[in-house]
Amino acid sequence: MAIAGAGAALALVGCADDGVGAAPTPTPAGPPVEVPKAKVPVGGGVVLEKRYVVTQPSTGEYHAFTKVCPHGGCAVSFVKNQQIVCACHGSEFSITDGARTAGPARKGLTAAPVTESGDNLVIG
Ligand code: FES
Repeated sequence: MAIAGAGAALALVGCADDGVGAAPTPTPAGPPVEVPKAKVPVGGGVVLEKRYVVTQPSTGEYHAFTKVCPHGGCAVSFVKNQQIVCACHGSEFSITDGARTAGPARKGLTAAPVTESGDNLVIG
């Protein structure tokens, strides 16, 4: 079982690096977000209402990323075919490490810490 994490301050996430459109809204800081493990499909993931996208590339391997697209600051839209997709301009990111795999973004999503708490995941 693997838990991904990063110590990056969430308040620093969300600055556009590609000069597209207006400056994105920084990810607001806030309390950790909890999600039932059962809502995160194996081989996929789910974009949460609050701040994060959570993935499970293989059974029991969870990762979370801030959902602010590094291209222009849109929130990523959905997870499909093992990719996190930003529908604004078509950037795609790996569900395993958030790395950019397609589209105009020049860097990947920012990892967020995930811990397990019983049947839930706690992110942030
Ligand atoms: S904001 Fe442009 S691809 Fe996400």
